Amino acid sequence: TGLDALIKAKGKKYVGFCADPGTLSNTQNQNIIKAEGGQVTPENSMKWESIEPSQNNYNWGNADSLVNFAQTNGKMIRGHTFVWYSQLPQWVSNINNKATLTSVIQSHVNTVMTRYKGKIYAWDVANEVFNDDGSRRSSVFSNVFGDWTFLDVAFNAARAADPNAKLCLNDYNLDYSSAKLTNFVQLVKDLKNRGVPVDCVGTQSHLIVGNSAIPSYKNTLDSLATTNTEVQITELDIRTSSSPSSSQISQQSTDYKNVVCGCMKTSACAGITIWGVSDKDSWIPSVFSGQGYALLWDANFNKKSAYTGFVSGINC
Ligand code: G3I
Repeated sequence: TGLDALIKAKGKKYVGFCADPGTLSNTQNQNIIKAEGGQVTPENSMKWESIEPSQNNYNWGNADSLVNFAQTNGKMIRGHTFVWYSQLPQWVSNINNKATLTSVIQSHVNTVMTRYKGKIYAWDVANEVFNDDGSRRSSVFSNVFGDWTFLDVAFNAARAADPNAKLCLNDYNLDYSSAKLTNFVQLVKDLKNRGVPVDCVGTQSHLIVGNSAIPSYKNTLDSLATTNTEVQITELDIRTSSSPSSSQISQQSTDYKNVVCGCMKTSACAGITIWGVSDKDSWIPSVFSGQGYALLWDANFNKKSAYTGFVSGINC
């Protein structure tokens, strides 16, 4: 029993959750992850500003603690994340020449991956490199390089540091914006064609209850699978009003079922990470005012109908 055991019995690799020492300090969170999860993703502790806040000054405490929790409890780990425009320390954002930025990316990727070598199933080597209209997102990386080759630098450094880790390109709204999805898929194909090691694509899947993208969610997974990489659902949550109506609650259950069923029916889809355990700790209310209720356990750690929908999706 438990979501991870259920999905493994159907041939998938994991159901996981984001976690960090903060959320794990709550034993209810910890017990649910132990019982229901087979993988953890650090919600914040491996982001650049957390782990290398000033140059060559690494802050390993929280990341080590999360990795130890995972290893002690037999959970896989998804590393998150290196090249990202957000939660990036100012000292990196200030770099204005390509040679320096290249060596800084290489050094950061190499140092972090070497520390956890052999322990990480997959890394989000780059995150959110597109705008929703499908154009390349402005960041210190894209601005200094002027093209996509900052990705070549990051993925090549990652492969060299831990050849057994799967290397992913991760993004959001791939289920929502067809321009973004099309260009994301083309970028992965282009990278692979020029020999850049991309092993997996991550679709974050921060979804909205009742959104029309959800019934066709499997189409998104099918498009991603045309990259011939492993497809991972990396940050699933489905938000609604923070005090939902009964119809929103039941729609959410249906929506979870559709998403999970889409993964089950797509052979390239390897596993699903849910972006939190309980609504109490979800990122949603602090970013989308009045919204929340996005996860499988409510703020009191009671299983919701969303959980039942998730299980129906596994069995669909
Ligand atoms: O740790 C500090 C604390 O010391 C300080 O007092 C407090 C005051 O605001 O902030 C705390 O940091 C917060 C951090 O989470 C840890 O709780 C940041 O403000 C807050 O911005 C940060 O939010 C995270 C967010 O990424 C930042 O972009 C969320 O927890 C995390 O769930 C969210 O995750 C992202 C994925 O990495 C990428 N995809 C989108 C997803 C949702 O935004």
